[in-house]
Amino acid sequence: FGMAPLAPLLLPWFDAHHRPLPWRTSRDPYRVWVSEVMLQQTTVAAVVPYFSRFLAAFPTVHALAAADEQHVLKLWEGLGYYRRARHLHAAAKALAASHPDALPDDPAVWADLPGVGRYILGAVLSQAFGRKLPIVEANSLRVLARVFGYRGDPREGAGKAWVWQAAEEVLPDERVGDFNQALMELGALVCSPSKPRCGECPLAAVCVANRDGLQDQIPPPKKA
Ligand code: ADE
Repeated sequence: FGMAPLAPLLLPWFDAHHRPLPWRTSRDPYRVWVSEVMLQQTTVAAVVPYFSRFLAAFPTVHALAAADEQHVLKLWEGLGYYRRARHLHAAAKALAASHPDALPDDPAVWADLPGVGRYILGAVLSQAFGRKLPIVEANSLRVLARVFGYRGDPREGAGKAWVWQAAEEVLPDERVGDFNQALMELGALVCSPSKPRCGECPLAAVCVANRDGLQDQIPPPKKA
């Protein structure tokens, strides 16, 4: 317990059990980026049809950059959080102008774009370019808090800092993008908020919450 490497347990599980989602068919940074912006506040099931329609209308960053804002917003209709679409569009215009040949693998360039926070930065650069950068979202934070037995609230303050640090420390040298997706996938499919299926979990043998029966208390229930 403590710092057992997770990747040798998690990656074979991911290879065998991940859902065949439309953004997993290529490492095209544009496709990864669009999918992660959509997934940031919306469930996988809801995103799938929007992603396919959006990519059919705007197959490249240049197509998106050239699009009219009303068309972009029309294709976003129903996903909500329209600021995400406006930021995505503005960032596509900036990147199409500054990097016309290929999207950059430089974190500093991405970090300056509208709508790109630590999550989008890590998601795009790890999945498209294999950069060793962590990501944390609702599913992966639950997995990390349970595996390491973190008793604070990983959604706020010191807990947020703890979970980003943990996500960074567990990164393998190889297949970083798959590893990040595997943490989210495990949270979505096995390590659910209530009644996690620990009998099917590849991390059960190294998980503090499983060992101590603390699945219901980690992470602590959201405050009302
Ligand atoms: N949630 C956000 N990004 C995801 C991804 N790439 N796979 C599964 N769930 C996700």
